[in-house]
Amino acid sequence: MIEFRAVTKRFDDGTIAVNNLDLVVEAGTITVFVGPSGCGKTTSLRMVNRMIDPSSGTILVDGKDILSVDPPMLRRGIGYVIQQAGLFPHRTVLDNVATVPLLSGWSRSKARGRAAELLELVGLPAELGKRYPVQLSGGQQQRVGVARALAADPPVLLMDEPFSAVDPVVREGLQDELLRLQAELDKTIVFVTHDIDEAVRIGEKVAVFREGGILAQYDRPAELLARPADDFVAHFVGKDRGYRSLSFVDASGVEVGAVPLVQVSEAVEPSGEWRLAVDDRRHPRGWLAPGTTVDGPLVEDVLKPGGSLFEVGQSIRGALDAALSSPSGLGVAVDAEGAVVGAVTATQVLAVIEGLRESRG
Ligand SMILES: Nc1ncnc2c1ncn2[C@@H]1O[C@H](COP(=O)(O)OP(=O)(O)O)[C@@H](O)[C@H]1O
Ligand SMILES: [Mg+2]
Repeated sequence: MIEFRAVTKRFDDGTIAVNNLDLVVEAGTITVFVGPSGCGKTTSLRMVNRMIDPSSGTILVDGKDILSVDPPMLRRGIGYVIQQAGLFPHRTVLDNVATVPLLSGWSRSKARGRAAELLELVGLPAELGKRYPVQLSGGQQQRVGVARALAADPPVLLMDEPFSAVDPVVREGLQDELLRLQAELDKTIVFVTHDIDEAVRIGEKVAVFREGGILAQYDRPAELLARPADDFVAHFVGKDRGYRSLSFVDASGVEVGAVPLVQVSEAVEPSGEWRLAVDDRRHPRGWLAPGTTVDGPLVEDVLKPGGSLFEVGQSIRGALDAALSSPSGLGVAVDAEGAVVGAVTATQVLAVIEGLRESRG
């Protein structure tokens, strides 16, 4: 069990990322934190394994105040999975999965044996173990990320938008896989997403956050849909009601605007706005946050991972997903070759959806 008691996080610049959070994550459940980008989901999650410490309040894991546990010790019992898997590019898949057992002092052969079992557990063929992460699809990389987090058999798993960079169809496969795994493993999982559809699909309990790091509602999915606590939640989950059918509406009803670009490997002037970094084929590589200083040529390490992309002319669900998952709030539109065309905001996409609803009556 994980318990947040009056937890607040205020960053040095005054941003309140999490505001007086009271919440209990029950053991052996999948609990989802959902909300638009910037509402404090990642901060809440990272306070559990002490990558970030709260400004005030207390977090208990299994009844124990985590400030009394030394962070490396704490993290041994907590697996962590992030967007785009965060795999080590220069290690094979098998060695990526074996990382934690090796760090805990297992012999190389025992650690590799365990890694091979885990690959099978997450539904990957053994021969993929010899490949490097770039040689896998996005969905396969995410599975490896899950296998790696499970390697030390931690009772708690924190997952931060683990499936957000893959397209909605692959994402559904990964969700099914996670539900199957959980039926077998019975972990305490906290899963962060911006996608309400994903939240109600996999969450036994769902916490809806709003801007300012405020918990708007914490309930079972059916309750959220049936009895939203306020207008914000109603609006947020309301998208879900027409959500499936959105997949069939062409996104070209949304006007794609310009997006400021910077190029990887080139010098960049400072700026107060979010800019999208692209490579020489104009393929998106991530976002450069406002005020980031870059000395010399732009390297990918300083970029924030982007959300999903949508292809112009494809379903409007993809456009909404792209905007909601993007750290800048701008959903990136690409052409059939994957080159950047421009960007849309969630507000723009939602306005089009509202318009469609009205015209349908
Ligand atoms: N290190 C930091 N310093 C200042 N502000 C931060 C920092 N990390 C996150 N924030 C801000 O805190 C808020 C919540 O961020 P985050 O928890 O990452 O949101 P989410 O995961 O829901 O997108 C945002 O306004 C974000 O810009
Ligand atoms: Mg986040």
